[in-house]
Amino acid sequence: MEYQNQKIAEAAALLSTRFDELTIKADILKAVELKALYAEIPTLVPEERAGFGQEINRLKQDLEQKIAAHQGQAEALPPIDVTAPQDFNVPADKRPRFLPAETGSRHPLMTELATVLDIFARMGFTAVDSREIDDDYHMFTSLNFPSDHPARDEYDTFMTIQKDIAGNALIAPAHTSIMQNRILSAHKNELEQGRPIAAVIPGRVFRNEDLDARHEHTFYQFEGIYVDRGVNAGNLLATFKTFLSEYYGQDIEIKSQPFYFPFTEPSFELALSCPFCQKQGCNICGHVGWIELLGMGMIHPNVLKEAGVDPNEYTGFAWGCGLERLVMMKYDIEDIRHFESANLKFLRQFV
Ligand code: DAH
Repeated sequence: MEYQNQKIAEAAALLSTRFDELTIKADILKAVELKALYAEIPTLVPEERAGFGQEINRLKQDLEQKIAAHQGQAEALPPIDVTAPQDFNVPADKRPRFLPAETGSRHPLMTELATVLDIFARMGFTAVDSREIDDDYHMFTSLNFPSDHPARDEYDTFMTIQKDIAGNALIAPAHTSIMQNRILSAHKNELEQGRPIAAVIPGRVFRNEDLDARHEHTFYQFEGIYVDRGVNAGNLLATFKTFLSEYYGQDIEIKSQPFYFPFTEPSFELALSCPFCQKQGCNICGHVGWIELLGMGMIHPNVLKEAGVDPNEYTGFAWGCGLERLVMMKYDIEDIRHFESANLKFLRQFV
């Protein structure tokens, strides 16, 4: 690029060499030489100012273009020859550019999930994995969704085109509640021996959503189930408040409001006091001081009955919480789509 002004031309040459050496190319825009040029504008005689200013702007645009071009290159890594992935006869600079193993790391969601499960383990909840393909019975019927009930349509599920032998499509689960019937059926004998059922069930769930900063088609939930004699909604709220305070490392207040789920009665939506502003109001909580987080309630007698648990003897609570939303609030992450983006710049911040 040609520059009329001698000083700008010199700075451009210097910044071009520096650019090649920088690891984070965007840092070139913070160079002191560039700032010094801008600082010079007010010292010039008025006739020179406009021309000088325009040339600096051009230099800045050229640098921005270089950054953009470099990003394009960095993303388009050469294709890996899978027939000879590690041929040590190939010169080192011609080998595929694998990421060095020592810089690999756990995905932030998995690190956070381990923290969540650890807190619940200390509260006596056993972790059980959910599953990633299921049927209509576990997704709806076992959870007290009457057939043809409109609540079924609220879950925009993905279904397989192929059918099972009974002629039903398989379903990619839209919530971890698919595990409720399984856990209750498998552990009901323990209730009779005087032991409560206490499980936390993490899993990936899938919804045919319109994607935006708060909605992904694939995300994680963790379900909680607790059943025993004499369990009440106060136990549910106290349990979840304890969990939230432990997870965010500060005393969190909670607020419940009535909601509707077919599988709980009563059902609540739980909001927590904003961990960023302690209810003062900020951007994260939309200036209301509270953030709606999850659905919960007392397990509906029909759900207990369907799994062979007598609702006259036992009561229980359940919740289904989105993991991403919880984590987004912990780290002030503004867009849920970062998690599945495979964007190393995002992921490296959590190493
Ligand atoms: N399954 C619900 C959903 O994903 C969340 C939920 C609500 C789960 C209430 C529960 C519950 O276990 O009791 O929309």
